[in-house]
Amino acid sequence: MDLGLKGRRAIVCAASKGLGRACAEALAAEGVDLVLNARTAGPLEQAADDIRARFGVDVRAVAGDIGSAEGRAAVLAVCPAPDILVNNAGGPSPGKLESFTEQDWAKALDANLRAPAALLAAVLDGMAERGFGRVVNITSSVVRHPIDVQGLSAAARAGLHGLVSTLVRERIARNVTINNILPGPFATDRLISNFTFQAKRKGIGPDEALAARKAELPAKRFGEPREVGTLCAYLCSTHAGYISGQSILIDGAAHPQLL
Ligand SMILES: NC(=O)c1ccc[n+]([C@@H]2O[C@H](COP(=O)([O-])OP(=O)(O)OC[C@H]3O[C@@H](n4cnc5c(N)ncnc54)[C@H](OP(=O)(O)O)[C@@H]3O)[C@@H](O)[C@H]2O)c1
Repeated sequence: MDLGLKGRRAIVCAASKGLGRACAEALAAEGVDLVLNARTAGPLEQAADDIRARFGVDVRAVAGDIGSAEGRAAVLAVCPAPDILVNNAGGPSPGKLESFTEQDWAKALDANLRAPAALLAAVLDGMAERGFGRVVNITSSVVRHPIDVQGLSAAARAGLHGLVSTLVRERIARNVTINNILPGPFATDRLISNFTFQAKRKGIGPDEALAARKAELPAKRFGEPREVGTLCAYLCSTHAGYISGQSILIDGAAHPQLL
């Protein structure tokens, strides 16, 4: 299916690896020109070179912390009028409520709530004026299915979901949509670092913890990042203009729920 995105421009945040990169690749495969962001310049440049070579689209790399005003300004300076915005950032550290410091709170809220909010504020009016806009926020299944050590993540992301729910109705008639993708367990470095944390608490090795979790999953596997990328590209497509304000769980049925 042609997603109708050829020649569109996208900002994809936190995209040198993992789910952000998978979204960038899926958009590039549809002919979308990209501005990619991550904090560390080397791997980011490498990702940009690789995507440019594989898909033949224009790719610019802007290194910086998307949780900071400077990082966001640098991205917007290179692409002030994107057609597509994929909001993403590293996830907050796991831990117990009592252990979270002021700095932990600031970092989580900056990266996972303030950053997407500020980028939305910067791009939505332009999208509406031009009559096309797609925003996809990569959040987490934790918003719907709590994990006890992921309080910071749940708090920051639930805030973003609440914000999005107040924004969609004003823009849908101008063909601007905003949706959230809620990944369950996906095979990325983030997953491995979470399992390392959990394994330490249980006194077992990370490989053992990963294997045990995989065996518990109904799908008997972790998700592949490209599965998030494909969903993201579809939500950004011309075909998805009637889908907005949705939070779409992609978790291989890992979390039991009534429909
Ligand atoms: N993987 C899962 O199973 C899963 C499940 C639910 C939710 N999520 C959430 O999905 C998001 C992406 O996770 P992932 O698994 O793809 O992680 P990942 O493989 O660790 O990749 C994270 C990417 O984000 C960049 N990044 C991190 N913090 C950033 C910041 N402040 N500003 C700019 N770039 C930043 C990293 O590059 P630099 O380090 O160079 O900045 C890297 O490119 C996270 O918020 C995570 O919590 C993941």
